[in-house]
Amino acid sequence: MAAALQTNTRLHPINVFPGKCRSLNDHSRAPCRVRCAAVSPGEKRFNIALLPGDGIGPEVISVAKNVLQQAGSLEGLEFNFQEMPVGGAALDLVGVPLPEESFEAAKQSDAILLGAIGGYKWDNNEKHLRPEMALFYLRRDLKVFANLRPASVLPQLVDASTLKREVAEGVDMMIVRELTGGIYFGEPRGIKTNENGEEVGFNTEFYAAHEIDRIARVAFETARKRRGKLCSVDKANVLDASILWRKRVTALASEYPDVELTHMYVDNAAMQLIRDPKQFDTIVTNNIFGDILSDEASMITGSIGMLPSASLGVSGPGLFEPIHGSAPDIAGQDKANPLATILSAAMLLKYGLGEEKAAKRIEDAVLAALNKGFRTGDIYSPGNKLVGCKEMGEEVLKSVDAKVAATV
Ligand code: IPM
Ligand code: MG
Repeated sequence: MAAALQTNTRLHPINVFPGKCRSLNDHSRAPCRVRCAAVSPGEKRFNIALLPGDGIGPEVISVAKNVLQQAGSLEGLEFNFQEMPVGGAALDLVGVPLPEESFEAAKQSDAILLGAIGGYKWDNNEKHLRPEMALFYLRRDLKVFANLRPASVLPQLVDASTLKREVAEGVDMMIVRELTGGIYFGEPRGIKTNENGEEVGFNTEFYAAHEIDRIARVAFETARKRRGKLCSVDKANVLDASILWRKRVTALASEYPDVELTHMYVDNAAMQLIRDPKQFDTIVTNNIFGDILSDEASMITGSIGMLPSASLGVSGPGLFEPIHGSAPDIAGQDKANPLATILSAAMLLKYGLGEEKAAKRIEDAVLAALNKGFRTGDIYSPGNKLVGCKEMGEEVLKSVDAKVAATV
């Protein structure tokens, strides 16, 4: 039952990142070796930055924090949480989307758990005062270029998928999204008035060879530890940046003879995801295609409320967040699905801290709560028990504990 989740999240960051950071002396992806203080024999302490953000962010973070704390304590891990404002919450408090103090707390931490950012209230803000800028600054300045977005259909949730059972059942893929380049960050960009006096808006899809190579390596390593299939998604029939993307990814393939590499245009990939999602194992793609395809993949799994993500760099803390947004329409109503954030906490343990046992406790507890029939509105189907965000969190917590009760 747990297999789908486990196969999606089984990579250790030390193995994901090729080259330099694989050395055991490199502590960047396993901070406990150097950073955490031993509390007492068998206990480790980590600093976790909590960035709840906006909308449903605070609700899902508060639930996920409790689960993280509990699962950690059962494995002798102690967490020192530091909660800081980002996004709209920070704009309201101090007038900027990412206050220096919030960034510093994040940067100095061992791992970062983020809720969601944005909301109607700030929709008309000038661009540099939009809440989303906090996300871009965090991603860019923490240099977390590799965004892992697992999407698997859990047996318990097959009926929540909008696709037919036979199409959705058994889907288990990992989307590796480039996160710090491409059109999101490319220059020139802007809105200006052209020679005819007409306003024009423009952005630049820009990739340097080294940016493509490093994300491709993460993807090859990821595929190697999964089912050995990597599909690189681009638009090389139109975009120059994609022509270079395809050339660099193809050139690296000879270093990974055990991985079967294919290429697909993004429009076809969008279609194939709905037609036959099981054909995909690992997908690697640029920033904007990864943004779009991961939302699409989430629907196959039943709900965007189920999908976690990990954003990793070569050194420094990783950023862990659900892929969903701040859902301002249901904020504050205890209706949000906290599972994507809880599963992001599991990814934090596994990829960020190298604490696989504690991560597995969380993954198992999520499956146990689903097995007992607890469902938030987004994944509800008749015959199950409809619960809110808090109750779902309590059920997961109970399952974390129940496992202990069962084994003592
Ligand atoms: C995501 C989100 C963000 C993105 C938004 C909120 C800026 O959609 O993480 O997928 O586009 O990267
Ligand atoms: Mg998105």
